[in-house]
Amino acid sequence: MKLIQGLVPLVTLGLASPLSFIHEGYIQPLLSQLISTKNLDYSINESDYKYSSSHGLSQATINELFKLHKLLVSSESVSGHEYEVGHKLTAYLLSKGLTVDHQIVDTKGRFNILAYKGSVNETEVLLTSHIDTVPPYFPYSVSEDGTKIYGRGATDAKASVASQVIAFLEILDSLEDGQVSLLFDVGEESGGDGFRYVANEIEYRWDSIIYGEPTENKLGVGHKGIYHGTVEVLGLSAHSGYPELGVDANKILVDFLSILGKQSFPSNDLLGKSFLNYGLIKGGVAGNVVSPTAEAIIAFRVPQDLGAYPKIIDSAIAKTPGGEHIRFTEGKIPIEPVLFEYDIPGFDSIVLGYGTDASALVDSPPKHSILYGPGSIHVAHGAGEFVSTDDLIEAVDGYKRLVQFSLKR
Ligand SMILES: *[C@@H]1O[C@H](CO)[C@@H](O)[C@H](O)[C@H]1NC(C)=O
Ligand SMILES: *[C@@H]1O[C@H](CO)[C@@H](O)[C@H](O)[C@H]1NC(C)=O
Repeated sequence: MKLIQGLVPLVTLGLASPLSFIHEGYIQPLLSQLISTKNLDYSINESDYKYSSSHGLSQATINELFKLHKLLVSSESVSGHEYEVGHKLTAYLLSKGLTVDHQIVDTKGRFNILAYKGSVNETEVLLTSHIDTVPPYFPYSVSEDGTKIYGRGATDAKASVASQVIAFLEILDSLEDGQVSLLFDVGEESGGDGFRYVANEIEYRWDSIIYGEPTENKLGVGHKGIYHGTVEVLGLSAHSGYPELGVDANKILVDFLSILGKQSFPSNDLLGKSFLNYGLIKGGVAGNVVSPTAEAIIAFRVPQDLGAYPKIIDSAIAKTPGGEHIRFTEGKIPIEPVLFEYDIPGFDSIVLGYGTDASALVDSPPKHSILYGPGSIHVAHGAGEFVSTDDLIEAVDGYKRLVQFSLKR
């Protein structure tokens, strides 16, 4: 077991005597100290918020939802900077009487948060989302008419985190130990190291995982995988007046890309066609020189059958004049397509063009995977990211129903 030395984040929270060691995975004794932190200020002015339906939630619960969401969105947490929001959320969950474990995912001490009732850390159902965001940070604000909440992460994915926590607290009294837990991970927006920790270090597999990402409160049908790589052509330079003395790398690359684009690629009814993107092309040295080198970075969005793509690329190379000068190098970590369960009574479904943490578990999936969350992906990474108050409230009801559905089977 690795020990992590030093605990800077506690110092930033103003605790008097931070302990100097924490055990990887378990820092429960330390966490109780966090409840007393003064930094857990998340007051709101109720009259700033307007919504059209309470979805059966009490006024107090709705206020608590807005407060928690504000607490999360007010903390900058661009991927890699998740300490502050991680500690605030930990303190919040502890203050509600939950048990909290930290999964330390890297040597800098970045951590995922696992929270549950009582002492059973392995549960039937897992509600999960991420606490990091894309850059740049911009602060929390509520629209003039009170129906929209702006801020980086307001939708992606702090709206999911807040509504999952409140849904969990709403049904807490009726839950037995070992039924439901919460997992909030780091790094989802930049490489997914938080959830990869779960895939690699946690042996246990939940019966059902409910992933929180912006789906407009519909059930995500699935998402395409990614297959990518670099095409390099090594030619031979020559004077452009004597092309027969050289090997034109640019021409070979252009021919290859054109032939590749005409191949047929896997497709299916649920996730649609493969998309091929020629993301970056470069080559040559000057207008009057036969180009000695050329390179392209290509990426496929893959609806099924990741294994088909290397074969298609090989056959396109074989069909290209001068193909023996081409070398293809597969990019790191191709991503399998993922299908979710989307036929659940009372919910609409939606096909999505983005990836999620679920990709990390394709080799050891849970029995059931569901993708659902408030807000729209269309605003998620933009400069005007927001979630509507109506979406946020509806998601609490949605998560409650999804948990209950999952526990009953
Ligand atoms: C809350 O907002 C209302 C309306 O904007 C304002 O009149 C009131 O003073 C605010 N209350 C507090 C405590 O800030
Ligand atoms: C639960 O705790 C055990 C014992 O420390 C650990 O091995 C296991 O990985 C934990 N499971 C989860 C889901 O964190």
